Amino acid sequence: MTDLTTRWLGLELASPLVIGACPLTDDLPVLQACVEVGAGAVVMRSLFEEQIVAEQMAAHKFIDSRISTDAEARSFFPESERFSIGSNTYLRRLDTLKKHLTVPVIASLNGITPGGWTGYATELEQAGADAIELNLYDLANDTNEDAAALEARQLAVVASVVEAVTIPVSVKLSPFYSALPAFVAGLDKVGARGVVMFNRFYQPDMDLETLTLTRDVVLSSCQELPVRLHALGLLFGRTKLDMAASGGVHQGDDAAKAILSGAHAVQLVSAVLMEGPAAVARIHKQLTQRLQDMGYDTLAQARGALSMTNAPNAHAWERLNYARLLQGWQPK
Ligand SMILES: Cc1cc2nc3c(=O)[nH]c(=O)nc-3n(C[C@H](O)[C@H](O)[C@H](O)COP(=O)(O)O)c2cc1C
Repeated sequence: MTDLTTRWLGLELASPLVIGACPLTDDLPVLQACVEVGAGAVVMRSLFEEQIVAEQMAAHKFIDSRISTDAEARSFFPESERFSIGSNTYLRRLDTLKKHLTVPVIASLNGITPGGWTGYATELEQAGADAIELNLYDLANDTNEDAAALEARQLAVVASVVEAVTIPVSVKLSPFYSALPAFVAGLDKVGARGVVMFNRFYQPDMDLETLTLTRDVVLSSCQELPVRLHALGLLFGRTKLDMAASGGVHQGDDAAKAILSGAHAVQLVSAVLMEGPAAVARIHKQLTQRLQDMGYDTLAQARGALSMTNAPNAHAWERLNYARLLQGWQPK
């Protein structure tokens, strides 16, 4: 049977299947069941910078109001920057998961500005997180900030988190970078250990009856996988960062394709939200069988076999193929 053990961010995982960031963080029994049937690690849902800032504002307001009304209040309150505010629920949840799960638990932070809130990264480390996944979900909507400035800001966010902790930091990206390999090289320079490709972009839709925007989280399908495979295949052998696929993995073959493209780990969310732990069991079994049928003894042997560096017809990853494909298209 193919040995599925893998290394992700320096962590030894019994399986490349990782439960990705989502509300399952709050459901310990489901996570335990996922681990029992083959999940190698768990990523918690994100702690959002907006939440942290709102909590800080609320606490500062509270402290300020006490200080102005009570001359002695200063001595009752710790200095505001050392005052542990909010996110306690998150830290408590992390503690629970660490106590009850036998696999690494990765905390997730979503931030877009470098700075003070990185103190939370330290708290996550102290609470036992095995790694931090930094979710760079950032919508470019400022006409004065060009791509280079936005990317420099994002790299500064990553650098500030990497400096704040000693545990490994991975970065989850959106699929919309003009020059992904260069940005990933930048992540490497500032000390990230891994890259997760990609987040899904939740665009609002429209209700034409009520003339309003609608917000709905639509779960993925495997049609979202190829853009991930392309990024993995392109980067394999060109970055020393570990790589994880996130998005569109619903079958064992989807996971196999991600690994053959170069992934060390494969995150699952929609499949588990739809089907529960049975999805993990099914994908684990299918993946093992597929890699075994292909003659691989270990996952490491399979990794990157169909990447741009190794695929026998690697030009299929390239732009030239795009032109050929479009020009040669025939109706069926
Ligand atoms: C309900 C829901 C909540 C999510 N919450 C988070 C989150 O807090 N942080 C994050 O980085 N990604 C979050 N995601 C994105 C997933 O981690 C994942 O990247 C995405 O769903 C693509 O993977 P999938 O095709 O396996 O679903 C969420 C997804 C869903 C469906």
